[in-house]
Amino acid sequence: PIKVAVIGGGSSYTPELIDGFIRRYAELPIQELVLVDIEEGSDKLRTIGELAGRMIQKAGAPIQLSTTLDRREAIRNADFVLTQIRVGMLEARSRDEKIPLKYGCIGQETTGAGGFAKALRTIPVILDICREIEELSPNAFLINFTNPAGIITEAVLKHAKVKTIGLCNLPIHTRMQTAKLMEVAPEEVQIEMAGINHLNWTTRIMIGGEDRTKEVIALHDRSDGLAVKNIPDHKWGEGFLASLQMLPCSYLKYYYLKDKMLQDQLEDLSGKGTRADAVRKVEDELFQLYADPELDHKPAQLEQRGGAYYSEAAVDLIASIYNNKRDVQIVNVRNDGILASLPDDAAIEVPCVISAAGAKPIALTEQLPLAATGLLQVVKAYEQLTVHAGVTGCYDSAWQALTIHPLVGASSLAKAILDDILQDNKAYLPQF
Ligand code: G6P
Ligand code: MN
Ligand code: MN
Repeated sequence: PIKVAVIGGGSSYTPELIDGFIRRYAELPIQELVLVDIEEGSDKLRTIGELAGRMIQKAGAPIQLSTTLDRREAIRNADFVLTQIRVGMLEARSRDEKIPLKYGCIGQETTGAGGFAKALRTIPVILDICREIEELSPNAFLINFTNPAGIITEAVLKHAKVKTIGLCNLPIHTRMQTAKLMEVAPEEVQIEMAGINHLNWTTRIMIGGEDRTKEVIALHDRSDGLAVKNIPDHKWGEGFLASLQMLPCSYLKYYYLKDKMLQDQLEDLSGKGTRADAVRKVEDELFQLYADPELDHKPAQLEQRGGAYYSEAAVDLIASIYNNKRDVQIVNVRNDGILASLPDDAAIEVPCVISAAGAKPIALTEQLPLAATGLLQVVKAYEQLTVHAGVTGCYDSAWQALTIHPLVGASSLAKAILDDILQDNKAYLPQF
């Protein structure tokens, strides 16, 4: 019998996950599903719990669902612990986006100084959760969606004895969009993606066993609407993709198109608001719909969020572990030499074989080219410093992390941003 605990169960994304569990019940017969949240999220948790109950009942799946504020009880004897938390909730995200913008730097939830602030808030909480897993369900898999997912995965790999896999929807999103573009079934598309979470490149695209990389890259360059919903859909620009011969993930636009993206963000800031403001509106609307006692399925409005297909990715992963499938999925794991340009103990996002033993990265067809490794190494160094700062509260590492980040890049600027972050997040930074 499978027990799954979802930490951050009151998230507006949860109906997506429930929908996935229901649809795949035959191969993943979950017996016990516990949604857990914190006191401040208890209203949302109640609404989500009731909706999930209606969805499960309608489907006739014999899943025992419960909601609780008692995280220890949720974790006890779980086989899979899923974390999808947002420490400080949307208000903190909004500050993460706005502080860097005040200094003329990209303000983004996971990338640059915004992601750094989120990492500092999240690392202590995720490590607390790990202590509970070590005590109460030492064999459980921790499946982490919590952003910045790469940094969080690395912190867990280095500082806990928990089997963990970091998960993002971008790999599956890339596969689905490619299938759409090429008018083939998603199962026919295989991609090789390499790098770290939210900073990776698709280097090879196979369709029905044939290498179609060049063609797909050219098509991507000409098509609209392929980016995730939370990132503006700008073109990469004159021949850049053809020159690179790789498909960068959408977050790389913050680097390759920095000026344009910054200009967009500054316009939004003085106009319709940042992404957190947009998400707040979508969430209010979603929770109103969720509260309707007639609603018994996930509403279409959920598709306005950036996490499209995240439940597919989650259920694919858990089902392959449970059924020892040995299929290939792109997830975040310990490097161990797969990316030659990064340390062994770094978290990386690459194709892995998924079995009952977890996710094992497989050798890449080719190492990433210089155009990728230069940026990759500097951002990984930033991540290593951030993990150290997040665990220990080391001010120097924090300052150095922001200083070397390509979206900050100067010590005085980094210090000003860091001091603002530490000041505005005091309540969430016990380590400092
Ligand atoms: C993408 C990322 C996720 C992120 C989401 C944000 O899909 O892969 O890691 O959480 O976008 O979407 P939102 O709707 O919250 O802006
Ligand atoms: Mn992601
Ligand atoms: Mn130190």
